[in-house]
Amino acid sequence: MTRKRVGVLISGRGSNLQALIDATQAPGYPAEIVLVISNVPGAQGLARAEAAGIPTRTINHKDFASREAFDAALTAALEDAGVELLCNAGFMRLHSEGFVRHWWNRHLNIHPSLLPAFKGLRTHARVLEEGAQLTGCTVHFVRPELDSGPIVGQAEVPVLDGDTPESLAARVLAAEHRLYPHALRLVASGAVRWRTKP
Ligand code: GAR
Repeated sequence: MTRKRVGVLISGRGSNLQALIDATQAPGYPAEIVLVISNVPGAQGLARAEAAGIPTRTINHKDFASREAFDAALTAALEDAGVELLCNAGFMRLHSEGFVRHWWNRHLNIHPSLLPAFKGLRTHARVLEEGAQLTGCTVHFVRPELDSGPIVGQAEVPVLDGDTPESLAARVLAAEHRLYPHALRLVASGAVRWRTKP
């Protein structure tokens, strides 16, 4: 079995990265993580990758004059490492349209809501403000519009009486950690493909 070479983009804690690392270490998993890139120096996720022996890079967006230049540096590093599939895991920068088109149908993101509901930031606080009784998380192919694109998988999570944004986030995060490895398996194995052209 040839395993797909995966790059992961992070900005912080990296708990979803950890779930992907753990999954890819299981025998027979159809993907391996070959590079982790953080745009934030010292992000906790970098230490998780290093502990697993995975090469890391820090590419700080603040060092670049434009979004396009930053994204070009990301693509150069990913291609140097032979990355075939890209996973955003708590990567908190918008991508340029050129970057999205370059990685079209080879680029996944996880978002902590049942898309297309609750795109953007402050997801869990907005779910509570609206009184929604069901939320969850979504893994989708990345498209130019924020938090949109063909859905690979979703997991539902109930909203419970007395939830705070923090308690809800923790319940959704546990579902994210189950969903992302499952969705990556589907895409890396070829069981799920999206073929529309950019
Ligand atoms: C996760 O909840 C992820 O869904 C969210 O950031 C968190 C990162 O946590 N991503 C977004 O909101 C992207 N729009 P992690 O660093 O522990 O994986």
